Amino acid sequence: MKIVIANDHAGVELKKEIIAYIESLGHEVVNIGTDEAKSCHYPEYGKKAALMVAGNEVDLGVLICGTGVGISLAANKVKGIRCGVCSEATTARLIRQHNNANMIAFGARIVGPELAKDIVKAFLEAEFEGGGRHQQRIDMITAIENEQ
Ligand code: RB5
Repeated sequence: MKIVIANDHAGVELKKEIIAYIESLGHEVVNIGTDEAKSCHYPEYGKKAALMVAGNEVDLGVLICGTGVGISLAANKVKGIRCGVCSEATTARLIRQHNNANMIAFGARIVGPELAKDIVKAFLEAEFEGGGRHQQRIDMITAIENEQ
């Protein structure tokens, strides 16, 4: 798969390890930054990555900021994005299986590199269970988006 990765200044160091890890799993990574420690604004990076996912330029997206929350909030404002913040692998698996999440976010100030790798692996390996109640609920989320 082709995976976009984006982060703010808080995620620069963890991001480097995660890129190498995702590549070691056989995926292609598109890194859109930031690659600098200088303070920046996470909404810019969350939005840019989300637009790539929503536009089908990539298959899935991985976001990192201090907590994972700010950058996920920005990404979730883009139509068609379902991004969940995860601090452990079970949630990372379930947001693919049940919510058909197309982006995941986590916090570089919350999880260490090994846990982050477990989270990413669970997310990338899981598949949407499709159909039935899960699709119905995703359609309901999309309907909320379309009401705005
Ligand atoms: C930046 O200091 C920090 O606020 C940001 O990385 C993130 O945690 C916001 O949600």
